[in-house]
Amino acid sequence: MKIVIIGGTGLIGSQVAQNLRARGHEAVPASPNTGVNTITGEGLDAALAGAKVVVDVANSPSFDDAAVLEFFQTSGRNLLKAEVNAGVGHHVALTIVGADRVPDSGYMRAKLAQEELIKRAGQPYTIVRSTQFFEFMRATADSATAGDTVRVPSANLQPIAAKDVAAAVTEVAVSDPDNGVIEIAGPEKIKLPELIRGVLAADNDPRKVVGDEHARYFGTELTDTSLTAGPDARLGKTSFAEWLAHNHK
Ligand SMILES: NC(=O)c1ccc[n+]([C@@H]2O[C@H](COP(=O)([O-])OP(=O)(O)OC[C@H]3O[C@@H](n4cnc5c(N)ncnc54)[C@H](OP(=O)(O)O)[C@@H]3O)[C@@H](O)[C@H]2O)c1
Repeated sequence: MKIVIIGGTGLIGSQVAQNLRARGHEAVPASPNTGVNTITGEGLDAALAGAKVVVDVANSPSFDDAAVLEFFQTSGRNLLKAEVNAGVGHHVALTIVGADRVPDSGYMRAKLAQEELIKRAGQPYTIVRSTQFFEFMRATADSATAGDTVRVPSANLQPIAAKDVAAAVTEVAVSDPDNGVIEIAGPEKIKLPELIRGVLAADNDPRKVVGDEHARYFGTELTDTSLTAGPDARLGKTSFAEWLAHNHK
């Protein structure tokens, strides 16, 4: 079946496209780099013609609060409208575990707004909420660095490997719409400073990592349960140690 992957050139999207092709589907990556833009509408109707499923794993080019909200709202509206016109039967979107629990984060508010649009659009859908990707820990460190120190909340995350995210999204894309939210997460809960220390040590990066319960993570303080998954989450197989062994610089 024809499945369009919005953001299909990105970290998750490229692996979802590969997985779907390996299962014999016609996987079409759609992003500005392939001539499809959900903000301007360029190439969108043509890309969606004949598609049964749309997987939205696009991300905002800017993480500035106003820009990211504008991105997910405009992109979501344009995409859902185009899907209705094309008769697409399933909208799959990747959002974030705990997006509804940390309103101080502009990025999380934008992901929640994306979810609200989907729930109101009348399109059959499945929202896949993931925890943070292991691959995102380097950007997290950079965003929390002042001088040679990385200061992050001491809270637990439950991070997951991008390949496990892609496997779960692939499975959802070839299943019937759930019209609800599915959570996916990594197999272990790990303190954020420990995660950052692990990645920096593997990269031989000399920055010092400090855990601080009042430090902010993309604009918000965190508790041990802000971003960890519930008991029904589907868990990825890859542990942090396994991931680190293959993913240092
Ligand atoms: N990072 C995390 O820990 C985490 C956790 C949970 C959920 N998520 C969610 O996972 C999703 C995928 O993240 P990722 O890391 O795979 O993203 P990524 O690697 O940054 O890729 C972003 C993709 O979005 C595309 N894109 C940007 N602007 C677009 C537009 N106007 N129209 C269509 N496509 C556009 C890009 O296309 P070009 O290549 O053509 O520019 C690219 O394919 C995001 O929605 C994010 O919120 C992330």
